[in-house]
Amino acid sequence: MQKKKIVFITGAGMSAESGISTFRDSDGLWENHRIEDVASPEGFKRNPKLVLDFYNARRKQLFEVEPNEAHKLIAQLEENFIVDIITQNVDDLHERAGSTKVLHLHGELRKARSTKNEKHCIAWDADLNEGELCPDGHQMRPHIVWFGEMVPEIENAMKIVQKADIVVVVGTSMQVYPAAGLVYEASSNADLYFIDPNPNISGMQKVKVFAKTATEGMKELVEILMK
Ligand code: OAD
Repeated sequence: MQKKKIVFITGAGMSAESGISTFRDSDGLWENHRIEDVASPEGFKRNPKLVLDFYNARRKQLFEVEPNEAHKLIAQLEENFIVDIITQNVDDLHERAGSTKVLHLHGELRKARSTKNEKHCIAWDADLNEGELCPDGHQMRPHIVWFGEMVPEIENAMKIVQKADIVVVVGTSMQVYPAAGLVYEASSNADLYFIDPNPNISGMQKVKVFAKTATEGMKELVEILMK
């Protein structure tokens, strides 16, 4: 029998139990940093050092954290399903848990790119500082989709969701578009699940909600999926 297609749409809550702060929970990243200062092209123009330092700290933290049980359960599902992940997260915890098909909608901390040409993108694990130039001669910047910028992978993400038999949303406040609109691309025949301790499901029909953390919710979901 052909394997069913399952897509996970994940947000910051997915990595919360690994010790990475979310953005909008109390004490989240946006409580201590202004989005327009550290996550916008204008902010980068105004104060590149502030922005580079912000992402340097995020990148450094990646090497101190590990995938959690929920990342691992998603990776293990590849034995029985065709699994795609569409993540808003810029960490690499899905990959490190063993998932093989991960689409990063908002970029990746472990990459940097030229300020002149976004296609000039390279692996980058060290701190990124002012004066560090791409081989094309222009300043490097974090490979992050900032507010006000295009989301180049959105079309690919929409196609993946449209083809899925099962759509699972994990740990996102559903506040940031176009990512938050992806779930509405699901086919009317698809099964929909939402895992989040504080689920924002307004307007979502026939969705099964687990108002739980990612690790607890994923354990329950795996039991249902493997029945
Ligand atoms: P948010 O911080 O907006 O939302 C985090 C979600 O995770 C909330 O719904 C929480 O209830 C949930 N959560 C908290 N702890 C959890 C846990 N242990 N298990 C499961 N869920 C938990 O983060 P995102 O929705 O990912 O964009 O934010 C979307 C985008 O906004 C981010 O990609 C980032 C941000 O600005 C950019 O920087 C471009």
